[in-house]
Amino acid sequence: MQRRVRAGFNFLAPFYDFFSFLFFGNSILNSQKFLLQELKKCKNVLVLGGGSGKLLMELIKRDVAEQCCYVDISNKMIALAKKRLEKEFSKKIKSVNFICGSVNDIDEKQKFDLIITPYILDCITQENLSPILQQLKSHLLPNGKWLFIDFNIPKNSNAKPFSFARVRIMYFGFNIICGLGIKQLPDFEKEFLKLNFLAEHENYFLREFQVARIYKKTEG
Ligand SMILES: C[S@@+](CC[C@H](N)C(=O)[O-])C[C@H]1O[C@@H](n2cnc3c(N)ncnc32)[C@H](O)[C@@H]1O
Repeated sequence: MQRRVRAGFNFLAPFYDFFSFLFFGNSILNSQKFLLQELKKCKNVLVLGGGSGKLLMELIKRDVAEQCCYVDISNKMIALAKKRLEKEFSKKIKSVNFICGSVNDIDEKQKFDLIITPYILDCITQENLSPILQQLKSHLLPNGKWLFIDFNIPKNSNAKPFSFARVRIMYFGFNIICGLGIKQLPDFEKEFLKLNFLAEHENYFLREFQVARIYKKTEG
């Protein structure tokens, strides 16, 4: 399963940014950048599923963290992110630890004061989502923050059917290429609530089709 997902994202990697821009314009990156202004500089940030590195450049430019652990299942995505970093911020190479893998490949003892999940949790099946969120939570320091950015089905607006159809089409494509085996967007809000996270900041983009939230733990 993991192998199939990796092969799919490896295949997509060279065109990913192009298609992302074609379908969503700048909103994918804008939604990831928007709430960065609410975060204080931290020591250690974990970026899971960062992709080709656009967000990473933004984190470095804004000096969001001293150290970054950048985890992605696709070696091609990691290579693109590394190349970008070398080109744009060569002096910062040592501040980023690239891991080609997933949550299980992060050192169990490693703790972060910020976790960022940019459009990655939608790639996790419903049955794996809770354990993965739980695992990520165990890496978060007690006062740590979690910047969550992903797709969203608006609850009450008339954009709901349109968003629903968009998600179905997206999953149709990703299921063929990456074998994700997912049909519906999980209820992320409910999942974070189950883990006792509280949203401190929230913003919607593209007629509520995208959401960014900063979560904090409500217990240790
Ligand atoms: C939909 S793309 C989003 C990329 C980037 N964050 C963006 O917004 O443009 C999902 C990314 O997560 C990675 N990914 C998918 N499943 C993963 C997993 N289980 N663990 C780690 N990375 C994963 C993919 O390789 C890909 O780079």
